[in-house]
Amino acid sequence: MVKSQFLSTCSVDTIQKAAEQLKAGHLVAFPTETVYGLGADASNEEAVKRIYEVKGRPTNHPLIIHVSSINGLEVWAQNIPDYAVILARAYWPGPMTLILNRKDIAKDFITGSQDSVGIRVPRDPIALELLSRFESLGGLGIAAPSANRFGQVSPTSSKDVQDEIGRYLSDNDLILEGGQSEIGIESTIIDCRIENPIILRPGAITVPMIDSVIEVDLIHPETLEIHVSGNLEKHYAPNAKVKINQTPTAGQAYIALSRYMTPDKVYRISSPATVAEFAKNLYASMREADELGFAELVIEVPEGQGIEIALQDRLRKASNGR
Ligand code: TXA
Ligand code: MG
Repeated sequence: MVKSQFLSTCSVDTIQKAAEQLKAGHLVAFPTETVYGLGADASNEEAVKRIYEVKGRPTNHPLIIHVSSINGLEVWAQNIPDYAVILARAYWPGPMTLILNRKDIAKDFITGSQDSVGIRVPRDPIALELLSRFESLGGLGIAAPSANRFGQVSPTSSKDVQDEIGRYLSDNDLILEGGQSEIGIESTIIDCRIENPIILRPGAITVPMIDSVIEVDLIHPETLEIHVSGNLEKHYAPNAKVKINQTPTAGQAYIALSRYMTPDKVYRISSPATVAEFAKNLYASMREADELGFAELVIEVPEGQGIEIALQDRLRKASNGR
């Protein structure tokens, strides 16, 4: 039975109601430009606990706190380096999460008992409106992981959210409908706790974009052992076995940029013309391969130094299976 309410249009009234439900301790799944998030009041321990239950996620994996503007930085974080403020000014609202030293109000139930806190201002208009209204009600931030079950592919539409977690939601929880996510992969996560920033998870805010605005050097992630849940070596995988960068054979499903041909008897799931379109459709295409019951999905990963780095990261992990 479908328990959560599906909201087909995001009217002002609907968003106001969603903000009130959040403030009352219920969960609201909402669109962002990266992927859909499963939100709870970041100050409400019981509500945040439910995120972990609904996702089936281990409680030592920290949550990102979403705020409506850069002013939220000082609410949740302290000892913020200048370069982090520069990054926030340059790329917020947008697909970037900053990891900073937490203030006491960022409790262990948000940070997985770490002394750091992740903060993001999303740019999706529905997300921003929800955040402003939630803050007008006295809320300080919305904790939200991607709205999928732990280890599964992130949702990029409200239908994906319903399919992933709808059966675990309660009557007062909501899923906001906001169309297909514009970017399609999760935010760039940058650790800003030391003199030089470190990319913990690549995304649409790329190394050249970061380098172009800050004076200090980025530490490159290949050189470090990183412990965030999206960095488990098996993540982002559909049911189908993902094989990357090989010629597909009969009976396999296939995702590649449009300039690649489809061999005989191979099922072409998608042929994006650009890398941005590739990212936007990737997770939906993986879900489609599963819906169609394919055992194997071959993906030709785009090469390049922009968002391609994020695609390579996700697809390498996806190819490690569940
Ligand atoms: O694009 C996104 O970031 C989406 C949308 C909804 O904002 N959210 C998202 O959340 O991808 P989640 O929880 O699925 O992935 C966030 C990652 C996790 O791997 C988590 O461990 C890491 O961020 N993270 C959060 N807070 C952290 C912290 N204080 N230190 C290190 N890693 C942190
Ligand atoms: Mg996630």
